Amino acid sequence: MRHLLDTKTLSRDDALEILDVAEDMADTQLREVKKLPTLRGKTVVNLFFEDSTRTRISFEAAAKRLSADVINFSAKGSSVSKGESLQDTAQTLQAMGADAVVIRHGASGAPRTLATSGWITAGVVNAGDGTHEHPTQALLDAFTIRKRRFAGESRGRDLSGISVTIVGDILHSRVARSNVWLLDALGAEVTLVAPPTLMPHDVSAWPVRVVYDLDEAIAAEPDALMMLRIQLERMHAAYFPTEREYSRRWGLDARRFELLRPDSMVMHPGPMNRGLEISADAADSARSTVLDQVTNGVSVRMAVLYLLLAGERGARQTNEEEVVVR
Ligand code: NCD
Repeated sequence: MRHLLDTKTLSRDDALEILDVAEDMADTQLREVKKLPTLRGKTVVNLFFEDSTRTRISFEAAAKRLSADVINFSAKGSSVSKGESLQDTAQTLQAMGADAVVIRHGASGAPRTLATSGWITAGVVNAGDGTHEHPTQALLDAFTIRKRRFAGESRGRDLSGISVTIVGDILHSRVARSNVWLLDALGAEVTLVAPPTLMPHDVSAWPVRVVYDLDEAIAAEPDALMMLRIQLERMHAAYFPTEREYSRRWGLDARRFELLRPDSMVMHPGPMNRGLEISADAADSARSTVLDQVTNGVSVRMAVLYLLLAGERGARQTNEEEVVVR
């Protein structure tokens, strides 16, 4: 794997390889000393043009636990705010010897531009681009579902027979898009629920079932219910009457939470608007995977950086025996 730009072009086998390596990484994270020497001497640059807390620190933790050097570059306060182009920034990183660039950008397609431009030789990981994709979020979500559902027997398994319902601001959500492609590749059944104004226009071409009524979707007893944040910063028009009305019709409130199967999982990529799309009771319950998702995010990002930077399969194998206990 040279780059990780999206899940739309990720094959089932490549996705399973990432999830399985992430299982190995997760095992190493249970040890007292969590740091592995695998990426010693490699440099990972976190290039963040958009605000982020958990994704940036998750990539940082992942790179550091593999012993890579990490440079955090956030656009605020940098020359980017003085008008420096993506090309100039990229060429600067190249000159500094970056081996991987983790990029978050407000423009859909920016990571692909970086990967295909010829400006850099580094591997590129998309950490969220506009409303397009957020592949590592989808991978950590799939990892979380698989681990909860299959416990100790999750390695090598896809998500056939698992139903996942994604609720909320689908229109602006790169998390939803990456999840739809990945879950479909892994054999899961996906249902999308949103107000008609927050459902993408081209959704009929997606491999999903579309429902506008959350109660109907909950009555179908999904294995996982993924609540999305209402992305007010991306809304330049009125997509729903009031927050109260949104919450009443599409929020996971106490009543709806009670109707879920006891073994259904409640997911959220964070940051949550408690009381809007998800009630505090649901977010903090034993059925909630919110904190597992954060923990698993580090393992999944370790796997991605490892597969990108630790060389081709042959070279990796010797390495693997040394650092990853199977
Ligand atoms: C998501 C994002 O930035 O796309 N958050 C994240 O990566 N943890 C979802 C969101 O912002 O709602």
